[in-house]
Amino acid sequence: MYITLDKAISLLNSHQVVALPTETVYGLAARSDDEMAIHQIFTTKNRPLTQPLILHVSSIEMAKKYFANWNPLYQILAEHFWPGPLTMLCEKSNLVSPLITAHSSKVAIRFPRHELFLKIIESLNQPLVAPSANPHQQTSPTKASHVEQLFAGSIPVLDGGPCAVGVESTILEILSAKNPIQLKIARPGNITPSMIQNLIQEKLKQSVTWSQINSVVASGQQAIHYRPPYPLLVTNSAESPSLKIFLKNKSPVFLILNEDAEVIEQELYDKIHSFPLLNQFDLLVLVIPQLNPNLEKWNAVIDRLSKASCFPFYF
Ligand code: TXA
Ligand code: MG
Repeated sequence: MYITLDKAISLLNSHQVVALPTETVYGLAARSDDEMAIHQIFTTKNRPLTQPLILHVSSIEMAKKYFANWNPLYQILAEHFWPGPLTMLCEKSNLVSPLITAHSSKVAIRFPRHELFLKIIESLNQPLVAPSANPHQQTSPTKASHVEQLFAGSIPVLDGGPCAVGVESTILEILSAKNPIQLKIARPGNITPSMIQNLIQEKLKQSVTWSQINSVVASGQQAIHYRPPYPLLVTNSAESPSLKIFLKNKSPVFLILNEDAEVIEQELYDKIHSFPLLNQFDLLVLVIPQLNPNLEKWNAVIDRLSKASCFPFYF
């Protein structure tokens, strides 16, 4: 069900959830001070309450109220990457409800780069919490029509066009903001570790230690996620001999995406959402010839596809 900007604002002000466009994916939004609507997000998505939500702000000033200890590291990251697809995961202030953070002491905050989303936060003068607007474990929407399809038209959605980035934000956990700075990528995205590290070296003249340890809460990043309604297999070569053996007696459909990482990020979810409408098949084989696990620019695509596919990658 498509709605206008004014309607979105009035629904949000009357304890309802609405789907809104961001530059990454469409989000299912509620006011961050409305516990009734936040509960509604979890039930609508069928999402466990143990999976925390990202708080979306429309200015650095607003973010400062919800993090506990604003410091020069947060400031340079925010000034450089916001508005944009970077979520910072840091100690929360007591203004953030435990319902949002699943009782963690840390909150994930981002300042999205989408005019309509920002207009709404400004007009409410209140941050919005918003997970991706898809049922739990399914593929995120990057167009308003995907939201319609995913929830059979039952969710009010504001159409802001296709999402420019197309994969969810990079989540950067700040483990220590003091020298030595310690960071962790809790979810890879369009903003890469070297972009972050170069900025810190340039502005703060400090080096960065990257943690690989999986913290319990950020394991909202479960192994099954982003699943399309059909089996998916990923390869960088349709000619791979082991793949050919595997596909014997199956009727696969091949989709070749011969593009670079950023373009694939932008198109990937749309391709996945449009596919079932067009074809009858056993298995979708996604062929990405340029995919290279040794280059960090592919991290987000590999992360999402390894959770979306039912099989190991065939290289
Ligand atoms: O690009 C995005 O980030 C999109 C748009 C709508 O902003 N949002 C999004 O939200 O992807 P969601 O809920 O689908 O994914 C957020 C991830 C989840 O895996 C969640 O577990 C993790 O962020 N997360 C959120 N708050 C956290 C916290 N306090 N601690 C650890 N992980 C957190
Ligand atoms: Mg999601």
